[in-house]
Amino acid sequence: MKILGVVGSARKQSRSGVYRLVSTVLENTGMEYDLVHLAGKKISGCIACLGCVKDNICQVDDDLAALRDQIVAADAYVIGAPNYYSTLSVLTHAFLERWFQFRHQEGNTLWGKLAVAVGVGGTSGRFPADAIETFLGYNFVETVAKVTGQGAASCFSCGYGETCKVGIPLMVYGEGVKITDDMIPDVAQQPEVVQAAAEAGRLLGERLRRGHDRQSVTAAMQQKMMEMMAHSA
Ligand SMILES: Cc1cc2nc3c(=O)[nH]c(=O)nc-3n(C[C@H](O)[C@H](O)[C@H](O)COP(=O)(O)O)c2cc1C
Repeated sequence: MKILGVVGSARKQSRSGVYRLVSTVLENTGMEYDLVHLAGKKISGCIACLGCVKDNICQVDDDLAALRDQIVAADAYVIGAPNYYSTLSVLTHAFLERWFQFRHQEGNTLWGKLAVAVGVGGTSGRFPADAIETFLGYNFVETVAKVTGQGAASCFSCGYGETCKVGIPLMVYGEGVKITDDMIPDVAQQPEVVQAAAEAGRLLGERLRRGHDRQSVTAAMQQKMMEMMAHSA
């Protein structure tokens, strides 16, 4: 069994809170895994050409095409995104939007698989984590846990954070703020967040080792999505 980890951050690994938490989840699964970082990749959103409806293979020729085999081969996913404008970053959004290719006919390539969703934001990672869970639900992938943390908004290091009228330092701490290192959020320094990531990883690993039955997960997710759609009409 293999897990695919996906980091939707545009930052380098050394500076990314998403990378840190996705890695912590993966390391605690006790399973084999691959890690893909989307930074620098060219992935467009779905263009609604319906080129995938016959065979569940997207016809758009960009960097997502090379990742398709890894997505299909994985038994589970750990997907993380930064919070951009109270939703997930466009890179992660485009990556997940293109999973539309798996949603046709008996396209059960992904049905019943498991996942952990990770979100990191300057204030909160809840929005991207919830959005990832929703995306995955459309392919009947069950999110077994969500992990959210507070990462370093660029406003702390851009050079204008103490005076910028729309920056997080001034909005959170008020006029006259003096930025000090201890103010800059770092998920690695949030013990409850690191612990939640480790627990999520262990849970995912246990669920996979405990005779993971994709059919029953699929049936439960199908029911959940039907209820969601009935209520959103
Ligand atoms: C374009 C952009 C928009 C952002 N919007 C938000 C936001 O609406 N809410 C928030 O909490 N953080 C926001 N942030 C801050 C990031 O979520 C934060 O820096 C986070 O640590 C990014 O994750 P990473 O370190 O893995 O890249 C934004 C950052 C950028 C670059």
